[in-house]
Amino acid sequence: MPRIPAKITGVSCYVPPRVMTNFDFEKIVDTSNDWIIARTGIRERHVVDKGMATSHMATAAAKALLEQKQVSPQEIDLIVLATVTPDMLFPSTACLVQERLGATRAWGFDLVAACSGFVYALTVGAQFVAAGTHRKALVIGSDTMTSIIDFEDRATCVLFGDGAGAVLIEPCASASDEEYIIDFHHDIDGSGGCYLYMPAGGSLNPPSHETVDKKMHFVHQDGRQVFKYAVRRMAEVAELLLQRNGFTDKDLRLLVAHQANERIIRATQERLGLTDEQVLVNIDRYGNTTAGTIPIALVDALKEGQLQKGDLVVLIAVGAGYTTGGILLRWAY
Ligand code: UT7
Repeated sequence: MPRIPAKITGVSCYVPPRVMTNFDFEKIVDTSNDWIIARTGIRERHVVDKGMATSHMATAAAKALLEQKQVSPQEIDLIVLATVTPDMLFPSTACLVQERLGATRAWGFDLVAACSGFVYALTVGAQFVAAGTHRKALVIGSDTMTSIIDFEDRATCVLFGDGAGAVLIEPCASASDEEYIIDFHHDIDGSGGCYLYMPAGGSLNPPSHETVDKKMHFVHQDGRQVFKYAVRRMAEVAELLLQRNGFTDKDLRLLVAHQANERIIRATQERLGLTDEQVLVNIDRYGNTTAGTIPIALVDALKEGQLQKGDLVVLIAVGAGYTTGGILLRWAY
């Protein structure tokens, strides 16, 4: 079967209404608004209230997307949902979302790639559309990071927020259509697993009083190691995608990087020789929402007029694993 170029035809997001500012953290741990802004670029983040989980945010983002696109839930063929904070280990969060949406014809699954989760899921969804077997794939990134954060650990608790984003992937209508997902690159490097992980809750360390007492159900991170790896790999992969498709940094309209730290994004920008206008930064308002950052950033880019039909865009992420992912595309609407 000939492959059909796939494109993003819509994007939407959801963040919970409650906002925690850096000043709120000053009251909880030994930190300061100035330190958090200077070291991360974060000013505030949205956090869930008790009872709201990853599936609820994912469903809200997907519902808004279907409404915006005037697509009925029954038209959806596939749901790929990236998360490291599923409502529970099983059933998958994709199943919970499918049921709530009423997407009765869709199959789907969860995908675990941490901060690279959304770009991995986007590539997976696009493959099914490109194969000609699926016409409407819903790709969602959703994470409730506050459910796995130790609010007594200043080195991690100030970094994360909660949020979700969803995109619709559809086939290009005709051969003359030039705005589509052009290329991708993904790799994993398990040697980085020890620098960012959640030790318990799986089969190695099932939940017990001991795992709770030792705070093993929280994010553990060696920030400096992850920082260095992220800067190097995001720049290398963005460069690779541009070069092997015959583009230079001048052709790029927007780099939409995973929002983990503004300093990582700026260092990547510098390595690639990009201007401020070519780089999206919205971490100040959301913190690191893991699989949510890139679709939330796309929504903001559209709102702020930074993204027009035909623009060349690179989506890029590095996350726990290590996982690395990059996608080159022309914005399609
Ligand atoms: O999205 C998943 C991937 N994750 C990432 O990409 C995160 C990558 N890493 C980072 O973004 C940065 O490494 C952090 C923001 C986590 C930390 O920034 P840093 O500049 O690497 O700081 P550091 O860990 O080297 O710590 C510097 C100092 C330490 O104090 P000493 O040892 O120099 O006395 C920390 O204890 O800052 C201290 N510190 C804080 N101080 C005030 C750490 N967290 C805080 C805090 N407030 N919240």
